[in-house]
Amino acid sequence: MCGIFAATGESAVADVLVEGLRRLEYRGYDSAGIAISGKGGIAVRKNVGPVGALATMLESEPAYGECGIAHTRWATHGEPSARNSHPHCAPGIAIVHNGIVENHGELRQELAARNAQFVSETDSEVIPWLVREELMRGEKPWAALQKAAARLSGSFAIAMLSEDEPGEIFAIRKGSPLVTGFTDGKAFLSSDLNALAGIARHAIALEDGDSARITPDCIDIRDHDGRIVNRPLLPVESRIATYDTGVHEHFMAKEIFEQPEVAARIDAAYHDGTLMEQLLSIDFSRVRRINFVACGTSYYAAAVARHWMQQHAGIECTVHVASEYRYEALPQFYSGEVAVLISQSGETADTLAVLERLQHLGMPVLGVVNDTNSTLARNADMALPLMAGLEIGVASTKAFTAQLMILAHLAIHATGRRLGAAASPGRLRDQLASTPDLLAKALLCEEGVIETARQLGDARSAIFVGRGPFQALACEGALKLKETSYIHAEGFAAGELKHGPLALIDEHMPVFALAGDQEMMPKLASNIREIAARNGRIHVIGDREAILSMKDVATGAITLPSAPDLVRPIITAIPLQLLSYHAALQRGLNVDRPRNLAKSVTVE
Ligand code: AGP
Repeated sequence: MCGIFAATGESAVADVLVEGLRRLEYRGYDSAGIAISGKGGIAVRKNVGPVGALATMLESEPAYGECGIAHTRWATHGEPSARNSHPHCAPGIAIVHNGIVENHGELRQELAARNAQFVSETDSEVIPWLVREELMRGEKPWAALQKAAARLSGSFAIAMLSEDEPGEIFAIRKGSPLVTGFTDGKAFLSSDLNALAGIARHAIALEDGDSARITPDCIDIRDHDGRIVNRPLLPVESRIATYDTGVHEHFMAKEIFEQPEVAARIDAAYHDGTLMEQLLSIDFSRVRRINFVACGTSYYAAAVARHWMQQHAGIECTVHVASEYRYEALPQFYSGEVAVLISQSGETADTLAVLERLQHLGMPVLGVVNDTNSTLARNADMALPLMAGLEIGVASTKAFTAQLMILAHLAIHATGRRLGAAASPGRLRDQLASTPDLLAKALLCEEGVIETARQLGDARSAIFVGRGPFQALACEGALKLKETSYIHAEGFAAGELKHGPLALIDEHMPVFALAGDQEMMPKLASNIREIAARNGRIHVIGDREAILSMKDVATGAITLPSAPDLVRPIITAIPLQLLSYHAALQRGLNVDRPRNLAKSVTVE
């Protein structure tokens, strides 16, 4: 996904735009650019590379004015390059775009036949030329943007400058987020609210179909039908508290070590169950099936939660990746079904598409979401805030364990509502209350993990195995390693190895065995012995007892503190996160901005 930032009423707007892009750089970072409307028309400065490269360009090629738009890109159509970076222009028009124009091919042909001069390979470049055609028909810039957007299929958030109206910013959104903010005599636009912290005093989130005309003194918002709308004002943080890595070298490390604090915050808020009762508008004593839907790491959190819900609350659960579920043929839902959509950003396009589909079908949707101003948080029927704080590292760490904490509290709530005190939800709450302390103890495994990462050497693949909820943790561990160190990795149910993946095992294939499911420990031990019999290099991750039970076949071990059943999956995330972090560092990679990735994927 890309980042959009715009400002008007600022005397040195270029500096404000660059700072805004720095705050959005975690959303996409392969190129960056700005357009500023000034006396001589619209000046464009853009370059491949991080925002810092753009700032350097502006030192030698400054651009002056009080109104501008800016963009940091995560490439979807067209390689990262200067000519593919935004803004894209047509005579008198400059636009920046987040999303995908699915019908860009036919539009490009149509416009080229009418002498549009394309210079990039992007889908976005059709937008300024569509706007220009509307201007040539006599439309004013705002109406021209609205008419041009009506020709687009797919998702978009667009900010535009027009030479006809210098000092004004025009915006429109469908499927990709946009928030406009203001303070005295200045106004802003951003892909996310956090980038407005300390800059704007209030903000307004545009809804799908909304368009806006933004001047230093006025923000005019119309809905899809052109009606004036008054969207609610959102409070804006008075300062950016989280855009530094603190004592750590990277955001990922900072966020890994923040987890005990995050878990303590969550448990303090949810421990007695009152907040859960207040936030849920359905009676879980009547819930007969839960459909979990998410993407990536959030999907693995859902897969863990399924175990807890079925084991403790006795509720049947299904778990789906959103990119598939949004198109799947769905059975007739029956009353008593609820969907739980999990998303750190609350802006993942596939997850939002499922939200829209399920609500259209009449199924109640509960969002479990970190960004409480996000589309998912605002549009779900109910929402549980993660309280994890801003997560900047592209690899999700503290949000994952926060999701597990919240989902464990949800399972405890459901258990109490369905089975009453006999199911001893209070005992489960007490178990969960030990999580912050056990996360802190789990972080002490870092030295051992650094050595394990070193033993990975130049391994090109790795395997993670687990049983029960630890199968999902195995998949999450594999995802972490893939996305930060680019080492191919797969996670399996340990019992599945003998059905094919065992063929991968030899002395060159590191295997990480997550020994957390005490009931299944003997089964896991026999799976591990199958691996050892084929010269597999096995690293056991678990508490002392688990490691002792497999020491005869283990090459290495990462020791975790003993923990109650409910907490063990949560603390097992720690060595997996640290392993991916250190493996990436040892390979000299950018752990906070892995290649090809973005923090929130707001396109299909
Ligand atoms: C997590 O490490 C990944 N960066 C990615 O899989 C992420 O979990 C996924 O894109 C879902 O994002 P969301 O939680 O914001 O919806």
